[in-house]
Amino acid sequence: MALVPSKGVGISVQVLVLSAAAATTLLFFLLFTFLSPWSPCSCPTPAVLNESDKILEPTSASVEDIDWLKSQIEANGLHMQPNVLRKGINPRTRQRQLQDLLQFKGISHYEGEEANNHTALPCPGELLVEEHHSYYGEPWAGGRDVFEFLAGAVHLTPNSQVLEIGCGTLRVGLHFIRYLNPGYYHCLERDELSLMAAFQYELPSHGLLFKRPLIIKGEDMDFSKFGHETTYDLIYASAVFLHMPDKLVWTALERLVGRLKPLQGGILVSHNIKFCSRLGGEECTKRLNSLGLGYVGKHIHDSLLFNHYDIWFEFRRSKA
Ligand SMILES: C[S@@+](CC[C@H](N)C(=O)[O-])C[C@H]1O[C@@H](n2cnc3c(N)ncnc32)[C@H](O)[C@@H]1O
Repeated sequence: MALVPSKGVGISVQVLVLSAAAATTLLFFLLFTFLSPWSPCSCPTPAVLNESDKILEPTSASVEDIDWLKSQIEANGLHMQPNVLRKGINPRTRQRQLQDLLQFKGISHYEGEEANNHTALPCPGELLVEEHHSYYGEPWAGGRDVFEFLAGAVHLTPNSQVLEIGCGTLRVGLHFIRYLNPGYYHCLERDELSLMAAFQYELPSHGLLFKRPLIIKGEDMDFSKFGHETTYDLIYASAVFLHMPDKLVWTALERLVGRLKPLQGGILVSHNIKFCSRLGGEECTKRLNSLGLGYVGKHIHDSLLFNHYDIWFEFRRSKA
């Protein structure tokens, strides 16, 4: 085909301009597609994880976690404001919250008989305002410290089988329930009000009903309802044995030795072991040995959030 040179040059310019425009459009399209926050391609593809690939939840905060948290508080210029009324924020005591809840029917729009018909688990106001977080001495947040210490002490995994004696309102137990596989947390507790708080508020409000913890009411150290075959990686009593008669503590230990997993299982008891030391050092060791238990030692664990430490005493089976 004979092209006039000048015409040929003209076509080339047009082609060049068109090509440049097309390339620019394509570049913009690609940039928009990959960089735009609204682009479907910028979303990570949801990973399909196998059971074995699941990322393990850490049982305690790392130094990096703590540094990160402090940097976020600093970066946002945060500090505690005085507890005064501010626009949109209305600090109230629990007592006041409860009063409002009862007087104004909380946030329910239903009246009279209808009020509870639309609630699967009608929860008493006292629990809704979390009065039970103050049932026992320490700050509620200390439950996490106890979990972190115990988890580390026995190298907890989601498959560990755990028994708590006197779990109260699940200040500690909740962290175990969340971490462990369904059905692997057991507790024996005697106080009805605490149990109601655990069942009616803590488990449902934390979305942990599916974890099916086995929590049984009882006070005489009868563990038969937990299944005769069950053995534990960890048995612990947080602020409980010091409140029990020595005789009952010994009964508990006698019944629990055989329920410890032979090598890795540990019994951990907080605060003090006066049930033992009251007998005198030698007698105490003798009695433990006669049960097949050995005293491993004393541990101290610092709280993450407040100036406090927990003291723990550890026992293991002396015979496999
Ligand atoms: C100080 S509270 C500690 C609760 C929980 N362990 C915690 O750290 O938040 C003591 C708990 O032990 C329970 N308790 C005391 N004696 C008991 C017994 N003989 N059998 C079962 N639970 C008992 C009490 O009802 C109470 O819930």
